[in-house]
This record gives sequence, C-alpha cells and structure tokens, in this order.
Amino acid sequence: MVTENSSAVVTSSYKPLLPLEERRASGLVGLRVRRHLASKRPWCIMVRQGTVKRCVVALLLLTIVSIFCYAHYLISSPFSSLIRRDSRPEPSIRCAILTGATRVPAVAHDHRSAARLRIDAKVLVFVETTYSRLGREIAELLVYNRIKYKVEVSGKSLPVLTNLDKGKYGVIVFENLNKYLQMDKWNRELLDKYCREYSVGIVGFNPPSEETLVGAQLRGFPLFIHTNLRLKDAALNAGSPILRLTRAGETAWGALPGEDWTVFSPNHSTYEPLAWATRNSEDFLSEETTRVPLPTVLQDHGVYDGIQRVLFGGGLRFWLHKLLFLDSLSYLSHGQLSLSLQRFLLVDVDDIFVGERGTRLKKDDVVALLATQQRIQQLVPGFRFNLGFSGKYFHHGTSEENLGDDMLLGKLLMDFQSILIVICNDPVMQVVLFQEHGIPVDSGYSIAPHHSGVYPVHELLYEAWKRVWNIRVTSTEEYPHLRPARLRRGFIHRNIMVLPRQTCGLFTHTIMIERYPGGREKLDETIQGGELFQTIVYNPINIFMTHMSNYGNDRLALYTFESVIKFLQCWTNLRLTTAPPLQIGERYFQLYPEEGDPVWGNPCDDGRHQKIWSHNKTCEQLPRFLVIGPQKTGTTALYTFLSMHPDISSNFPSPDTFEEIQFFNGKNYYRGLDCLLSSTWLLICVYLQVTILISPARRAYSWYQHTRAHGDQVALNYSFHQVITASDTAPKPLRELRNRCLNPGKYSQHLERWLSYYPPQQLHIIDGDQLRSNPVETMNELQRFLKIQPPFDYSTHLRYDPKKGFFCQVINGDHTKCLGRSKGRQYPPMEDKSYKLLQRYYLSHNTALVKLLKRLGYRSVPQWLKDDLSDTVTA
Ligand code: A3P
Repeated sequence: MVTENSSAVVTSSYKPLLPLEERRASGLVGLRVRRHLASKRPWCIMVRQGTVKRCVVALLLLTIVSIFCYAHYLISSPFSSLIRRDSRPEPSIRCAILTGATRVPAVAHDHRSAARLRIDAKVLVFVETTYSRLGREIAELLVYNRIKYKVEVSGKSLPVLTNLDKGKYGVIVFENLNKYLQMDKWNRELLDKYCREYSVGIVGFNPPSEETLVGAQLRGFPLFIHTNLRLKDAALNAGSPILRLTRAGETAWGALPGEDWTVFSPNHSTYEPLAWATRNSEDFLSEETTRVPLPTVLQDHGVYDGIQRVLFGGGLRFWLHKLLFLDSLSYLSHGQLSLSLQRFLLVDVDDIFVGERGTRLKKDDVVALLATQQRIQQLVPGFRFNLGFSGKYFHHGTSEENLGDDMLLGKLLMDFQSILIVICNDPVMQVVLFQEHGIPVDSGYSIAPHHSGVYPVHELLYEAWKRVWNIRVTSTEEYPHLRPARLRRGFIHRNIMVLPRQTCGLFTHTIMIERYPGGREKLDETIQGGELFQTIVYNPINIFMTHMSNYGNDRLALYTFESVIKFLQCWTNLRLTTAPPLQIGERYFQLYPEEGDPVWGNPCDDGRHQKIWSHNKTCEQLPRFLVIGPQKTGTTALYTFLSMHPDISSNFPSPDTFEEIQFFNGKNYYRGLDCLLSSTWLLICVYLQVTILISPARRAYSWYQHTRAHGDQVALNYSFHQVITASDTAPKPLRELRNRCLNPGKYSQHLERWLSYYPPQQLHIIDGDQLRSNPVETMNELQRFLKIQPPFDYSTHLRYDPKKGFFCQVINGDHTKCLGRSKGRQYPPMEDKSYKLLQRYYLSHNTALVKLLKRLGYRSVPQWLKDDLSDTVTA
C-alpha cells in the first residue's frame, strides 16, 4: 500500500528524466529543486497540509498570549513607562486657522442695537409635545445658558405676547417649523404682527419627515427644500452677521450626525446661508455632486415679509448647531440675549502628591506639565495649574518619583498656583506641615476631600476654614445636587463663597487615555464639540477638578486641556482667561448675585448627601412637613389644631415672637439646617407643605389691623386706604408698610417658587375660609393628605364658640379654649373703595392662581377667589 506521502516520492523518482524544456513545461524542475531544499529543512517544509494549519494556529496563539502578558504584567511593571512613553498622544486639533493656513479674522459681531427696544430678554419656545426630544434639548440649552424661556405646545391658542407696551419675548423658537407654517390664519397673523411691531425674530427647525421631499416649496415663502439627506463637512459663512460666539474659517470634517438633514434652496435675496455642508460620498454620487456646498442653516434678513428668521435644516444633535442657535438668539434679540464672551478657566489638581507608587509624577512629567502650561499661556493669558497640597504623601513614591516630588515642590511656589486641601481632623497640624515646606497658606482657596461638609454644609469645616486658614472661597460639584451639571449653582455661607465646579471626566482612576470612560474616541469627542467643549462654552466660570494620576503616565489631563483650549480657539470667539480663585469667586457672584443665599436642600433626599452629612445629625431631627401660609391666613389655628394630635409635635415657639420660628424669612435661615435641627420636631411622614390661602384683600386688611394693634406708628398714622394707595414717592416707612401689607397676597408668585423646588404632590392647599367655618372637615382632609393613621377625631375636640365667633378646642369635657385675643379680632369692615381697589390690584395674581390651582388638579376654586374675581361683590 502506498501512502499519500510516499506516493509523491515514488512518483517523482519513477518519472523518467526528460529534456530540460520539457521538464520546465511540466513543472518538474521546480518540483525537484523544492524537494531538494525540503530535504535540508524537513521541519518547515516537509510537513503535511494539516500540520501547516496547526503551525499557523500555534503561532497565532503564541501572539495572543504575548499580547495578554504584555497587557497584564508589563503595564503595571516599572518598565511600562518606557514602553508607553512612545504611544503618548500629542494634542492634535485639525485647525487651519490655528496653523495659519487659512486667514479668517475672528469677528465677534456686536448684536446690540441703538434703537429703543421694547422686548424682554426671554424666549418663547413652541414645542410639538411636552416630551418631544428637540424641545427638551432646546430647553436644556437655554437652562444651561441661564436664558429665560417659556414653553408652549404648538397648536393651542397663542399665549399673551405683550405686557402693557412691552413685548414679553425677544425671540420665538419653533421646534418644528411646519407648526409655524401651518398655523391657523388668525394666530399666524397675530404672531407675525407681534414680530414686526416689536422687531422680534423667529428660529425654526425643519423637522425630519418620513417622505423625502425634493425641491418642495416652504408654504408661502420663495424657499425650496430637499429633505432626508446624509451630509458631511460643515462650514460656516464667514461674512454672516449672526456669528458672534461661533468662529468661521474651519470645516467640521466628516459625516454629520443623522440621516435626515434638510438643505435649502432659496429663490430670493432675503436669504443668506449661515452654514453649508456637502452630500455624503457614500451615497454613490458623482464627485462633482459631493463637492457642491448646500445651505443647512439659512438666515432670512426679513426683506420678503419684514420678519427676520434663522432656519435650521437639522436639530441640535450636531454640536455646531448649538453654537449657531445661541448666536441666532443673540442676533434676533438685538443683543438682548447675547452671552458674555469671557470665560474664566481654573484647573485644580487635587493633592499633587497623592498617587499610588508607580503612577506618580517623575521629573519628565513635571517638565511636561510646565511645558504644557507655557503653551496654554499663549492661548489663555496667565493660565497656571492650581496644584493642591495637603501636606501629606510627599515622597511616597519610587526613588524616581520622589525626585519628581522634589522638583514639583521647588516649582510649586514659582510656577503654579497652590491651593489647600483641608484635612478636617487636624488643620493645625497641617499648618505646621505647610510652614515646614515653605508653602504659603494665604491663597484663600480650599477644597475639601470628597466634598465632605461643603454641601450639605458641615459647620465645623467652615469654622476651621475661617479660623485656621482664612478661607474665602471653595468649590463643589454637589450643590444643589450632583446631577445634572447644568443646574449646579453657587452660594455664600458664613462669608465663604462656594462656587460650582464643572465636570471634565478625569477621575483618580483614569490614568491612561485608553482608560478614559469610553476610550480615546470618546475623549476626543468630548473635546471636539462634545460635553467638555460645551461646558466651557456655556459657563462663564469653569473650575475643573483633576488628579495627580491624570498628569503622569500618558498625561491624559495635559492632552485634554491643551486640546480643548485649541478647539475652543478654533471654533469660537471666546476670550479665555484666568484669575486667582478669590477674584474668580467675586466675579461669579457679580454675575449671579441672586445665588448668594443658599437653598438648603434636604440631605436625606439623596443617599450621597446623607452619607457625607455629619454622623450626629439624623434625618429624624428634621421636620416632615411645614406650614407655609402667610401671616393672617389662619396659620395659628392650623398649628394649634395640628398640635392637638397625639402623634404630632411642632417646633417650640420662637423665644422672641412666641410664634413660629421664622426660618425662611429671617436671620435663622443663614444659620443653616442646624437651626432647624435645634428646634424640636416629631415626625409624621414625608416632607410636605401645607399652605393656607384666604382672600388676599381681606388678608391685607387683617394684617393692617394686626399691625395697628401692635402699636405700629405708621399703621396708626395712616388709614388702610392711604397705606394701600401709597405711591412710590411716599415716605419710606409708608412704602415699606404698603409692601409688607400687599406682597404676601401675591399667592401664585410665592407658590410657583415653592413648586420650583418641590413636586406638586407634596403641596396641600387649604382654603382659609373653610378652615375657619368648617375646621373638622379641613383637618380630616389634611390628615388624609398626611396619611396619619389612626386619624384624630376632631369632631369631638373642636366646637364653635359663639362668644369668640370661631371654633375652639374642647377641654375638660364642656369647656372651650380659644386662640388668644390677637386671633379673631373685632374691627370695622373694610371700606368698599379699598376692597374694589384691591380686587383690581390682585386681579392678575388671582387669575394666575386660578390657572395654577387647575394645573395642580383642584377641581373647584375657593369661593373667596370667585368673589375677588367678580366685580359685583362688595367687602
Ligand atoms: P383676624 O384676627 O383678622 O380675624 P394667623 O394666625 O395666620 O395670623 O391668622 C389669624 C387669622 O386666623 C384671624 O384673623 C382669623 O380670622 C383666622 N382664624 C381662622 N380660624 C380661627 C380660629 N379658630 N380662631 C381664631 N382665628 C381664626
């Protein structure tokens, strides 16, 4: 039997030798030669076909194992740095303007107008539904930039557009342009008239549609569209007057997000493109077709119908559109909605000496840090990394890393700004350490490790900061909540400015660029128009926290900040700058003075906040519900009736007023939650408000009588009518009395503010008239709302007292105990002219209250509200 292998040999030796040409032709020459060689290297060549496969597989396996070993063992070894250094990416932003290849001057148009404007700096946004995606994105962008806005669902009747002789909105935005084009004639004419009269512009987004339209005309306009396109390579019209924040000159290379773009084809001189893009070559189009720039954002100068517009052929998913949208608002509002172009940048490095051995900075890392700082200074004048130093962990690395520490310490004073990291348990020891190292302790800026105590406020920390370090400014990501970033705010507590910190995605564990959450691609995305880029665009003041480990190894932080700064320079006209933390803090509260007062959230609402709250403070110490009615609405009656319940206890009365502790409207508020904790409460259920409302006109009159009874000289000297009609030129004490008398009755305004912090389900509104005439029913409803089990039987504990003219507590079987003399006073009825005047005064507030009650789900409105709104009833 001949085996496959032996047969080849046999065959070749068996064949008679042919002449050379014939052998060549038959391939036998090669065969013989190969066989000859094979006999010399039998392992490689003289193998069967199956063995070759095995050989290849073995090689492959060997390669995979080698890669595995490299990844798992070498990366953490001391040799790793040698290997990784070569792969350290350099910041590379494709920008012809920065390299000087394109010369497009940076022109930030000033949109302010010399004309007398009659519009408010507010945007009216028409959305398709309250849940539509683009509508939400628009609202978020406006919130981020602190631009005031109102959202209306398209298709309903128009909201009121004017207030006296002033336009309530500076720009109108349509999430779906078709909703504007298809508006019913009446509303459309009304809206267009408003826009012309008040010189208000419109922004419209052309929506994606299932049907592809080619050359379709926009209803009523000399403008044609082509929809559902895939586009690439967006560029801007450098001559457009809209560009302010956005800088033209570069192309956003690559495919634009989405496959449902609309491009415009205008047929009138009123239109001017603001941005173009080209067709995506993947669509099998000729090269010429893919080169033609197609307008994706179009400006309507208003030549055609007297209204200026900006039309977008895509939504806000494309980052550049977000910038163009902000510029459009600025342009169309004649600068009323222009954002400042100055951006402060502060990059903190949380303790520069904290890091695991093997991941700490070496000398060449310190050199790189300084070199990058110098390069950034070319773009951001005065920029210096703000290095943190706790006084601990110095010289905790390898010998090479300790040399890096020495170099850093030497440079700390000269080349960087230094910040303090407070170690809460022994600040005095820390001062000694700082002095030993010659580190100045007067920067006035500090951050607390793990945010502990900054918010929710830990009074001891503030005490230590003030006493030991003379700290004036700090920063946190936690106030009022960690998420979402666009809602972060600042506050001042005990004269220490707490600034909101932004997020850059660099954490202690992101040591390598590849380990950035989502990898290098994600990092580049966030830099090039993504989250980090936008954060700086939207925030006038940016404070970023980074960590030492982000600066060693492949120097992720240096890559990130240099890149994003370059990208900002390339695409925006922002003026990047920096200042010492104290100045930045002062600037922040100049920009946002309304943020000075803190908003004390409930730390027990948030697991993270609760965790870092001091151990000796417990959620049980906080009140579970608050009575928030204004004075003279029946709050004492409600308070007294609630206190009758064996399961409810209230705070002790204030030692000064013997009434409620006046937390929200007095100095107690500035003492923080600790003030509430020091009052005694017993808890029932969740954190709720109960508020009482009576006729604001009657409340004002009752309050005036109350003030007279307390001997207030101004109230005694002026009649009620004189008080409520006092003009703005009246003596100050009279004006103050008037305001204190009238302002609390603007219920809708006050309730809206509460509702911006608490969901409507947590609010229970009590009709003060019902509390007075039928307290049993009112208390039963309240018990149901508070879910008190078992309910207290008020019918046997409250009784009408004819002498007092009010319901009082039943005590000792047959006796009643009424509220004091100051509650339920006897006084002459209000004059009719005063009531009529107050009816008119509160008309808009009462109308808003009716709307609010309906929105909150109340089926009927109180009788007093109906009476106040009718013009037939007298006092
Ligand atoms: P008047 O004294 O003007 O009648 P407050 O406690 O918030 O300051 O409110 C005082 C008002 O509570 C009183 O105003 C009174 O009308 C009202 N009220 C309601 N129920 C009452 C009750 N059972 N006893 C006394 N006053 C009551």
